[in-house]
Amino acid sequence: MAPVSDVILKRYSCRSYADRPIEDSILRQFSDTVHGPHLGPFGHQPRFELISIASMSREEWKKLGTYGVIKNARLFLAGIFLPAPMAAEDYGYCKEKLILKATELGLGTCWLGGTFAISAFGRAAGVREKETLPSVSPIGYAADRRSLTERIMRRVVGSDHRKPWPELFFNGSLSWPLSPDEAGPYAEVLENVRLAPSASNKQPWRIVCDKTRKTFSFYISRAIGYRQLREVSLQDIDMGIAMCHFGLTANELGLKGSWRKDDAAPQLKPLEYVASWQADG
Ligand SMILES: Cc1cc2nc3c(=O)[nH]c(=O)nc-3n(C[C@H](O)[C@H](O)[C@H](O)COP(=O)(O)O)c2cc1C
Repeated sequence: MAPVSDVILKRYSCRSYADRPIEDSILRQFSDTVHGPHLGPFGHQPRFELISIASMSREEWKKLGTYGVIKNARLFLAGIFLPAPMAAEDYGYCKEKLILKATELGLGTCWLGGTFAISAFGRAAGVREKETLPSVSPIGYAADRRSLTERIMRRVVGSDHRKPWPELFFNGSLSWPLSPDEAGPYAEVLENVRLAPSASNKQPWRIVCDKTRKTFSFYISRAIGYRQLREVSLQDIDMGIAMCHFGLTANELGLKGSWRKDDAAPQLKPLEYVASWQADG
């Protein structure tokens, strides 16, 4: 397996795909992972389906619209869950793991939470009553050249810009930024959070480290007026994605710990507390 930091660096939102199918052995590996069990850190079990052009008529496939954003997709990963507290975060966590798996296999991906025809995808993925399908991702080989729409889209949402450390990571309180030196072995873990994808690249995660209690508390900075997609906020999913990058990197570096809701986490208005990583020992 490739180091997770390499895979995270390699991932980007790919919106233009090569017009060729995925090699059988690669597709088999990915499909096995997709159809395997999925368990988020807060106990929810989202499920995932692959929707393939090969299993559909041309007419049916055309209904799976992405509003001109995605070019030449032949396969989509659809992620489904039952709404509940922390279920959106678990969903983001589990789906990002699959996105990184696809990246590791040399495949392009793109989280889509807004620009996809939700009811047509819902029918194709067999969404059941009470379930929700808040996002899909095309899966395939990247085209040699990015389409004009893709280039414009990246510029509009500022995809190549990530917030610097002092805006995201704090030492004890929001008045004190956490430097990579102070983060010690967790510097790489936090850097990988910084590189995570998020809806409209808003990067809503803020993390406060409490060295005495050995906790990293995750807060969400909600964008004002940001569209709530049915019962699910895309920004709650973003938080799960950030937790996934944190958890996978910590795990690979041998930094042991676990996720929990921490009643002692400080209130830091206007941020909302989400969850904490409690380091062992
Ligand atoms: C939850 C979520 C929803 C997203 N929805 C869309 C979308 O509807 N359409 C789109 O083109 N990109 C979408 N994106 C991709 C983001 O714009 C992208 O991750 C961000 O600009 C950073 O760029 P990068 O992924 O290339 O690093 C979404 C990303 C996330 C995490």
